[in-house]
Amino acid sequence: MRNTIYILLLFLIEVGCRPVQQEYTIGVSQCSDDAWRSRLNQEMIREAILYDHVTIDICTAYDNNEKQKSDIRSFIDRKVDLLVVAPNEAAPLTSVVEEAMEAGIPVIVVDRKILSDKYTAYIGADNYEIGKEVGSYLASLLNGKGTVIELTGLQGSSPAIERHLGFVSALSHFPDIHLLTREDAGWNLEPARNITDSLLRQFPNIDAVFAHNDQMALGAYEAASALKKEHKITFIGIDALAGKGNGIELVRDGILNATFIYPTNGDKVIQTAMQILRKKEFVRETILHTAVVEASNAHIMHLQNLHIAELDGKIGQLKDKIDVYLSRYGTQKFILYGSLFILLLVLGLLVVVIRSLKIKNHLNVELSVQKQQLEAQRDQLITLSRQLEDATHAKLMFFTNISHDFRTPLTLVADPVEQLMKDKNLTFEQNELLSMIRKNVHILLRLVNQILDFRKYENGKMEFNPEIIDLDKYIQDWNISFQAAARKKSIHFTFTTNSEDSYRMLGDPEKLERIYFNLLSNAFKFTPENGSIQVALNMADMGNGNRELTLIVSNTGSNISPEHVQNIFNRFYTLDRHHSGSGIGLALTKAFVELHGGTIRVQSDSETGTSFIICFSTSKSLEEASIMPLSASQSFISSQILLDDREIEEEQLDMNKKSLLIIDDNPDIRSYIRTVFRQDYTILEAEDGMSGIRKALRYVPDLIISDVMMPGIDGIECCRRLKNQVQTCHIPVILLTACALDEQRIAGYDGGADSYIAKPFSSSLLIARVKNLIESHHRLKQFFSDQPELAKEDICDMDYEFITRFKSLIQERMSDSDLNIDVFVREMGMSRVQLYRKVKSLTNYSPNELLRLTRLRRAAILLGSSDMTVAEVGYCVGFSSPSYFAKCYKNHFGESPSNSIKQKVGVTD
Ligand code: FRU
Repeated sequence: MRNTIYILLLFLIEVGCRPVQQEYTIGVSQCSDDAWRSRLNQEMIREAILYDHVTIDICTAYDNNEKQKSDIRSFIDRKVDLLVVAPNEAAPLTSVVEEAMEAGIPVIVVDRKILSDKYTAYIGADNYEIGKEVGSYLASLLNGKGTVIELTGLQGSSPAIERHLGFVSALSHFPDIHLLTREDAGWNLEPARNITDSLLRQFPNIDAVFAHNDQMALGAYEAASALKKEHKITFIGIDALAGKGNGIELVRDGILNATFIYPTNGDKVIQTAMQILRKKEFVRETILHTAVVEASNAHIMHLQNLHIAELDGKIGQLKDKIDVYLSRYGTQKFILYGSLFILLLVLGLLVVVIRSLKIKNHLNVELSVQKQQLEAQRDQLITLSRQLEDATHAKLMFFTNISHDFRTPLTLVADPVEQLMKDKNLTFEQNELLSMIRKNVHILLRLVNQILDFRKYENGKMEFNPEIIDLDKYIQDWNISFQAAARKKSIHFTFTTNSEDSYRMLGDPEKLERIYFNLLSNAFKFTPENGSIQVALNMADMGNGNRELTLIVSNTGSNISPEHVQNIFNRFYTLDRHHSGSGIGLALTKAFVELHGGTIRVQSDSETGTSFIICFSTSKSLEEASIMPLSASQSFISSQILLDDREIEEEQLDMNKKSLLIIDDNPDIRSYIRTVFRQDYTILEAEDGMSGIRKALRYVPDLIISDVMMPGIDGIECCRRLKNQVQTCHIPVILLTACALDEQRIAGYDGGADSYIAKPFSSSLLIARVKNLIESHHRLKQFFSDQPELAKEDICDMDYEFITRFKSLIQERMSDSDLNIDVFVREMGMSRVQLYRKVKSLTNYSPNELLRLTRLRRAAILLGSSDMTVAEVGYCVGFSSPSYFAKCYKNHFGESPSNSIKQKVGVTD
């Protein structure tokens, strides 16, 4: 693995450090197109292969100066890196070569020259020297004697000029050799042939022809041959190229006598070009040398050239193979680089993965440590929270117990204080102190009761008795309780609803009332004089038959900061030292709201004041539902109670005294009330609502005093059930409660209570209220006793029905002497005691007295209005013995029946 990475790195370093190869373009401007130039071009191309990134771009001017100038300018425009120029003629091409130099392009002049030295390098043969060697060679062939004609190349080109000068110079040493003429054949075969033909005609004895190149020499030979003079003339050319029709072959074939090598050296041209381009040292003037090719060496030269050509071919093949290999190499290199790149990527990824894994492992270790720490912390927190919970529970238990313990003594403090305050001899200060005690006892009682209620809620023991109610109506009722407070503080108190909406909901009226009274009490407490309190009810349609009922209680003049708004519903949370309160009231309110599945929130700011917003979910379907009368829902429980009653053994009460039933779970309170009433009343006691109901059914007391808050069914429910039983509905009920708020008072009245007294109660108030209620029944009795018909409006429906039925039963069966209490018990569906107590309570007579009295009244009527005898009347009204009838009659009316007949007293029934 490490080795692979090492190799990869080396490779990357190698590739990275390799110098960036520059691309070179070498422009070649050739003056002409012939074998010699072809060879020069091939040599340059072959040499360029040895250099990477070199391109040879060749243009031929076809012996045309203008075209060559244009070619060179085009190269300048294309910004070639270097120019190789073989100028057609010196003078016309000089300026354009200088242009290229000025454009910053190096120029190598080859073969022919220009008139200026503004070029970078020159490579070519010494044409003067060549001309000179040709002159000497020819002189020796002619043995220093003879006639010669010279066919020159283009006379504006430097080789033509220099070769001539060299030739003339050599011949000057041989006075017997005569240069007959010098003619410009422009380097080409055709003109040379034509010129020679005419010269042969002009000079019939020409011994030799010197042509500046082999092609012109061949042209001269062909002209001579045409005139059959070729064997008499020596032909000498220049170039000595290999290949068919070229100099060496012409010599070998005996056409030319000799040719002088004019070296091409294309390889040297490229070598020099690359030195220049690479800014390396180079030879500015490279002069190439010549050699003669004649019959003696032509053959070997030919063979050598063939071999060279063969080798050239092989080099070509080699180059092709190299090209193939290079292309393969290129592909392989691409694949290799690609593979290496992928390998590198994979390695990179591997490294990343390995690192990630390491990091992950590291993190996992850290995480597991952290997890352990967190778990330890969590366990600690759980333990702490349990301890806290236990402590809170213990604290709340303590509060609850204390609250229970406080309630009774507080009640027992409150009443004596009331008693003391009645003393007219109290000084002002004493009276003030007692008022303070009374006020604070009441506050304590209220707090204690709130704590108890809250505990009930927290323990899930808070009862929830929902029924379909119209909240609008309830609030209207409750608002009555606040009118006085509003007037007293000059508070603008309003209640708004949308008259088109119905505000029906499923709610527990008692809890709703407590919610409302708590919010309103707070509002009245915190609203300054002349402020305003607004209560609003809204009903919003939430779709699918669902609705939301919103109750908003707003008041001006109070502002609760956002920090307090968050906590205001938390239990025991108080705003600050200046706002008194246990922090229970709103917590309890919220608890009651939540019992209804509702929400409560508060909004407050210094400008608009404070608003409590309660939302209840309700349903459109409630609109159609009828509000269930409470009595209907109690019927099952009533019959249950009746059944229980039959099992109870009947006891006799002291009939001389009125009886009171005290229902309270607190024995001290029961004992206190007993103390208050013991002298004048027979006292019955029950420790909870159910046993209270059972005792009421069993003994039918004259009055019931019941606590409201009790285990099991509370006082209000107890009262409601009693008022729904025919046996007990006539019994006045006084409710006692520890809660001073009017909400329970209203709930109590709603349950049918005849009176309501708040704890701590004043004993004199209680005595007065008991007396009053019993007397009001007495008045009813008086009325009933004196009047033959019942006044329906003075008693409840059930009592009216009961009495009517009882009376008609007597009327119907009056003549039956066996009619007695047992018949009534059976017919009226009551126990003997119940019937007795009920009849006695309503009429002030026992059932038997009532039966006898009714019989006697009927008898009086019969005696006065019929012709019946006393005995007949007695039997008729149900007396089995006329003497007993006469005795009872006299006892009741003060005179005997026979006297009544005589006086014919008129009595209406
Ligand atoms: C080829 C050529 C040669 C001659 C040379 C002189 O174009 O004519 O035959 O030797 O040019 O520049």
